[in-house]
Order: sequence, then structure tokens, then C-alpha cells
Amino acid sequence: MNKQKRITEHPVLGRMQDREEVTFTFDGHTYKGFKGDTIASALLANGVRRLRVHEETGTPRGIYCNIGHCFECRTTVDGADGVRACLTPIREGMEVKSGQKEALPLDSQHHDAHKLPKTYADFAKQEAGDPHV
Ligand code: FES
Repeated sequence: MNKQKRITEHPVLGRMQDREEVTFTFDGHTYKGFKGDTIASALLANGVRRLRVHEETGTPRGIYCNIGHCFECRTTVDGADGVRACLTPIREGMEVKSGQKEALPLDSQHHDAHKLPKTYADFAKQEAGDPHV
């Protein structure tokens, strides 16, 4: 952990050297943070900025709002998907994985969008076998 990327003394948080170290993994690599760190802050202090990739394009994603609103920091924590790294405190032994590229249900590159029903009524007709939908 690079302590140069940290605030070492803070009037509210206290001195960094007094905080308890926490060990966790991210994509199989072991990192250390401090008790009270979020996953995002601990990874950032370790130089990790990419938390996942965009589901459709595969472009890197990381911290954006850092207050839990945008969901750009989604990770998988101990098997649970969609965990916001900016809100979730690290725990000893926590296993964090980056979000991976996954197919979207309406991915226009992999589906014939014009064949999808526009309304629920069309969907119901399609399900009933109506060829005029
Ligand atoms: S960075 Fe926006 S929800 Fe985590």
C-alpha cells in the first residue's frame, strides 16, 4: 500500500498510523487498507482505479460520484453482485471481484431489435402465436 496517496493526519479521522490494517483481495490480488476504508478508497490508495468494465462496450469504469448514486463502481463481494464499492467498508478477508462484461438483455448488437414486441399487448400476442405482431 502506498501511504503517499493517503492523508496521514486528519482532525476528524485521526492519525493513519493509529488505524487498524485490513487485508482483502481484489481479482485475486491481495491488498491492505485501513478499518473504515470503503472498497473504492482502499483500492484507490493502492493505485487501482478500474473497478469493472462497461457491460456492452467493455470500456473501464471506476469511481464517478463516490456517494452511491451512479452505480458505476459495481463489484462482486463474497459472491454478491452489484455491490457499490464507494459505499461498502472493507472487512478482513473480503473477496472482491471486478464487474465483468456481460450480455445485456436488449443488446442491439446481438438481437434483432425490430423483432422485439413494442408493447405488452404485442408481447402477449407473440406469446400466443399470433403471426401478425
Ligand atoms: S461511484 Fe457512484 S455509486 Fe459508487
